[in-house]
Amino acid sequence: MFNADDLKNGFVDDLKNVKNEVQLSEFWKKFFSKQGSIQGLMSGIKNVAKEEKKAYGQFVNDVKTWAQELYDNKKAEIEKAALQARYKKEEVDVTVPPVHEPVGCLHPLTTVKYEMINVFAGMGFEIFEGPEIEDDDHNFTRLNVLKDHPSRDMQDTFWLTDDLLLRTHTSPGQIRVMDKEKPPIKVLVPGKVFRSDSDATHSPMFSQLEGLVVDKHITLCDLQGMLDEFVKNMFSDTAKTRLRPSYFPFTEPSVEVDVSCFRCGGKGCSLCKGTGWIEVLGGGVVNKKVLENCGIDPEKYSGLAFGIGIERITMLKYGINHMGKMFENDIEFLKQFKA
Ligand code: PHE
Repeated sequence: MFNADDLKNGFVDDLKNVKNEVQLSEFWKKFFSKQGSIQGLMSGIKNVAKEEKKAYGQFVNDVKTWAQELYDNKKAEIEKAALQARYKKEEVDVTVPPVHEPVGCLHPLTTVKYEMINVFAGMGFEIFEGPEIEDDDHNFTRLNVLKDHPSRDMQDTFWLTDDLLLRTHTSPGQIRVMDKEKPPIKVLVPGKVFRSDSDATHSPMFSQLEGLVVDKHITLCDLQGMLDEFVKNMFSDTAKTRLRPSYFPFTEPSVEVDVSCFRCGGKGCSLCKGTGWIEVLGGGVVNKKVLENCGIDPEKYSGLAFGIGIERITMLKYGINHMGKMFENDIEFLKQFKA
């Protein structure tokens, strides 16, 4: 004979052992599914005498309500425990100091190169890049550095063959641009250059930024105006330039350009060696012969050109005292340039 107490006791005992959601669903199957014991109670009604059916129905409903309540409580308890376990697992300790992933930064040379290009780009210059391996013609002859001319000795060349060499300056870029384009021309030629030279302020490889402007009525004043703007942007608002006569075969007249010392303001200090001025670049009015060599009529057009050593500007800007530092990839040195 069916015993309600047995069913209830079994239900309570089983429920006690339910510890997680999987067990809970097994339990549900055992008692609440169509084949389950509680559901089974209902089918027992057919064996009950007619007059007792109502009471039996009531009894089954009471059991159901009782069981459902216990089940719901257990379910809530298990869900809460599962949620707590999840919270525990996903707990974040906001007081733990962050782990810093190492992040690199631009090399100071790259930063300064970009800054320099930006200043000139603001004046309307475009970028042109030429080859690092040049021929005699572009690197020397058409720049009016003739064979056997003593000015060839100004630059100690790495020759690759009788005719090919590692470019000693970015000036061959001038020839390449003028061969391709008609005036007005306003270009920058950044790039690596090579000379057999090595000490605290020289390296066999270094970088230059060449500037070339060819148009009607270009004069030395235009050069100084542009360079004034350049030093103000690179060094200080009060920086000025000074032109000194110099010699390059490809410019006439040629100038050496100094910037007023941005450390002492011109009074004289160790950086400017007491002179108040620091030499920063070479330039001049493009030699008529060079224009002619590129098929540009020097009676109609004139030009200006300048070449700036990017390492030199970088060293001045950051107070770096040895050229080697720029190429050693010493992490301790480079870390200092992290923004
Ligand atoms: N090419 C020269 C050098 O490397 C610099 C320069 C460029 C001078 C353009 C005048 C005009 O020293």
